[in-house]
Amino acid sequence: MTKVLVTGALGQLGTEICKSLRLRYGDEAVLQTDVRPPSPAHQGYYRTLDVLERGAIEQVVANFQPTIVIHLAALLSATGERWPELAWKLNVGSALNLLEIAREAGFTFFLPSSIAAFGPGTPVDDTPQITVQRPSTMYGITKVTGELLCEYYFTRYGVDTRGLRFPGLISHSAPPGGGTTDYAVEIFEAALRHGRFACPLAPDTRLDMMYMPDASKAVMDLLDAPADKLIHRNAYNVTAMSFTPAELAEAIRVHLPRFELVHEPDPTRQRIADSWPNRMDDRAARQEWGWDPRYDIQAMVADMLDQVERKLQS
Ligand code: SER
Repeated sequence: MTKVLVTGALGQLGTEICKSLRLRYGDEAVLQTDVRPPSPAHQGYYRTLDVLERGAIEQVVANFQPTIVIHLAALLSATGERWPELAWKLNVGSALNLLEIAREAGFTFFLPSSIAAFGPGTPVDDTPQITVQRPSTMYGITKVTGELLCEYYFTRYGVDTRGLRFPGLISHSAPPGGGTTDYAVEIFEAALRHGRFACPLAPDTRLDMMYMPDASKAVMDLLDAPADKLIHRNAYNVTAMSFTPAELAEAIRVHLPRFELVHEPDPTRQRIADSWPNRMDDRAARQEWGWDPRYDIQAMVADMLDQVERKLQS
């Protein structure tokens, strides 16, 4: 029987993945954990867990006996620049805790990586699956380290590690926190409420992006893939669309013609974004386990405006 333990379950990605997992495997088969208590309306099986406490994780694993652990608890890029030491401790320390436990417990281990695992010196267009990875942010350094740890624990100990290099994730259920790509989420509420958005990135800053239903599908599809089909055990490039703030504003204007984008520079976020790819080459994911995103920018914008509008009206 499949049993999934999720860390960081209350975050932007965790909220959506837990919904998909509960639909597929049932409430009892999904243990959602996070460092904070959930809201009273939160659904499913939940407990608080600090992923830095190895003993506490060991206990949860011994009691729940997961076959899969999806480890999402992490600090994002802009927050990581504010607290680099904490980012290292949380992002790397917790992954190491879980990989060590996986050696004995035998669960499949999913760790998200990111476009942040690239940096200056990486080709920005059609960024290859295997290329220069010398990130200039602490978040990126923790992501490369996580990728290498996954590969190491697979090769050395046979832990079934799987990972994805996610682009910016766009969603409406739970807000992102402290990322560089957050603008592509915040813009929708601002457009609907004020008809105007002050963007921290320059209008021509191009980045990879993905709508959350595709991100959730990517995790499920990768976890479903037969182990012997997977050549890359660090993390796969996956992308669905690539756009600039100006292009996103243009796509929003199809629905809200008077929408206005202005630029309110954030030097930290701009520096980070400038060091990331324009568009990754995700052919390895397509070929090895059938990655096939559903949403392009037009479909994503139409659905986001619809969903955010409903939320604002409720
Ligand atoms: N969305 C993340 C960030 O902006 C990248 O993985 O930090």
